[in-house]
Amino acid sequence: MFEIKHRDGMARMGEFSTPHGTVQTPNIMPVVNPNLKLISPRELRERFKSQVIITNSYVIYQSEYLRERALDKGLHSLLDYDGVVMTDSGTFQAHVYGELGIDPVEILDFQVDMGSDISTILDMFTEPTDSPSVISKKVDITVDRATQALKRHGDIPGHIALPVQGGILPKMREDCARRLSHLKGSFYPIGGVVPLLENYRYFNLVNVIAASKRGLGPAGPVHLFGAGHPMLYPLAVLLGCDLFDSSSYAKYAGRGDMMYPDGTRNVKDIEHLSCLCPACSDLTVEELRAMDGDERKKRIAEHNLWVSYNEIERIKQAIREESLWELVEMRARAHPYLLDALRALAKNRSTMEAYEPRGRSRAIFYTGKSTLDRPCIGRLKEWICNSYVPPVKGPTVIFNVKGGRKPYHRYLTRELDALLREHTVNLLVKTPMGPVPLEMDEVYPVAQSIFPEDMVDEDALNEYVDRGDVTDVLYWEGMETLDILEKSPGISFHEMKVRSVCEYQFCKGAGAVLTEGELKFAKNRKGSIKNVFLDDFHVLSMRHYDGLFSLKEEGARILHRNFRAPTLRVQVTEDSALFNRDGKNVFNGFVTHAWEHIRPGDEVLIVEGDDTLVAVARAFNGHLEMLYYDIGLAARTRTGITDQS
Ligand code: GUN
Ligand code: ZN
Repeated sequence: MFEIKHRDGMARMGEFSTPHGTVQTPNIMPVVNPNLKLISPRELRERFKSQVIITNSYVIYQSEYLRERALDKGLHSLLDYDGVVMTDSGTFQAHVYGELGIDPVEILDFQVDMGSDISTILDMFTEPTDSPSVISKKVDITVDRATQALKRHGDIPGHIALPVQGGILPKMREDCARRLSHLKGSFYPIGGVVPLLENYRYFNLVNVIAASKRGLGPAGPVHLFGAGHPMLYPLAVLLGCDLFDSSSYAKYAGRGDMMYPDGTRNVKDIEHLSCLCPACSDLTVEELRAMDGDERKKRIAEHNLWVSYNEIERIKQAIREESLWELVEMRARAHPYLLDALRALAKNRSTMEAYEPRGRSRAIFYTGKSTLDRPCIGRLKEWICNSYVPPVKGPTVIFNVKGGRKPYHRYLTRELDALLREHTVNLLVKTPMGPVPLEMDEVYPVAQSIFPEDMVDEDALNEYVDRGDVTDVLYWEGMETLDILEKSPGISFHEMKVRSVCEYQFCKGAGAVLTEGELKFAKNRKGSIKNVFLDDFHVLSMRHYDGLFSLKEEGARILHRNFRAPTLRVQVTEDSALFNRDGKNVFNGFVTHAWEHIRPGDEVLIVEGDDTLVAVARAFNGHLEMLYYDIGLAARTRTGITDQS
């Protein structure tokens, strides 16, 4: 019921279906108070094109008039809204006012009976100040209520929202989320975060979201309960949140607070409106201030909503161009506490890395130290430090490329010619990301990144040099460096490239098996590798935009022969294999196993049964999603394989 259409790391654009239509995510659900309709649901639908709103079932239940009408005519008619309506359960009121004696079964049944599209269980709100034992009890009750709720209402056409609780303890969050995800629910809010939002505890907030997502896996949609300020949307979407509810738009308006993507300004402090939203565009700030209380409040609430929706559009564009991290970094400059959130992102890098493609077509922009914490950079650095094996046995020559024009090797052709013709050496280049094997210089994000000129990471280089097995390091000081080196012919730069890139891209040992034999290359106009032939078989083609290889049928056969399952494999059912052999794509619902290192965009071997190769494909999803989802594309088949030679 939730299908991902586009992604940028953990961030996703998706669609999920409900009895009242499809909701595109990311999206916001304006909170509607059935007693005071500041902006009416009909206006939300018609003017703001809202697809989904949220209201509170407890408030409706409390009023005999509303309750009777809701049960009689239905929730949508009560609100005069024909889009999707989510209802909350009264948990938040219990958090604010204390124990209210709400019956969890009654309040859920009531939501279902009114015809809510997304009904929420009465979860137990976990406070940041709760002790571990209190949190543990509340989580148990929440999971128990979730289990009962699905038993009772598992087959209704609408959704049941199962909020993740767990206070600010990442372990408890993750545990609660994992238990809820095992229930295979269709809608997962992250609850208990309002106190963190109110107190700007964004460091905790990021840890809570990341821990919840670790436990939930790719389950979705994920709704961040109570996050109503657009300033936080990019960050939350980056971490895989799909939906936000907003009552802040109205609450803020009551005190004259106008929301902007970079913070809040009070109307009395504003001299220049600087907003072109439909609510502001025909007004001067003097006219806005001069309005009477209710009229002004409505205008400001409208502005707040427009700004919120607009930020969602901005985020969607960023996902489409895979630049959401940059948007988050930019927005983080608006508030020091958001910089804390960036720090927390770095701490949760491995959670994000599981969803991070190995390559992208778009270059990353350096906008500050936090850029170096990006999962794509961290992964490469870690690999270079811990797993990279230099392609030959010999000294390492380190280059310092001034100005950092890329790919580096293209500006070193004379040096490389002289070096590799007569010497067995490994090559390293100093970069802003630390030392990079020169033969990896076209790999994402080494070539696909823009840094300030002359920035290099000396510390990372020193660490690398100190790691023990790197002996015999020398710095390139011009052609006279050649005089120090012993003579013995090396391997070609292209061969080095195939070896190291395959090790990084496929698996340990892939570089060796894909170069054992007679290597030939087809090159492009600039002399870069286009195609790789091994013993006259076309095994690999270079993807020009991310410096990684696409895998040809013969290359796939070599990897399949040399590495045991599950390495590089996506295992599918027999039914699926029939189609995949024919060149048809692989769908999530037919995946029975996927190697844990598969990331979106990876080259994969499609196998069936006892490891028979049926196709070579390019993963659309990472391994987590392939296994979790029942619908949607898992991998695009490049070539079906019918014979087993
Ligand atoms: N509204 C804000 N926070 C929460 C929460 O944790 N649970 C529910 N049900 N509603 C909320
Ligand atoms: Zn405006």
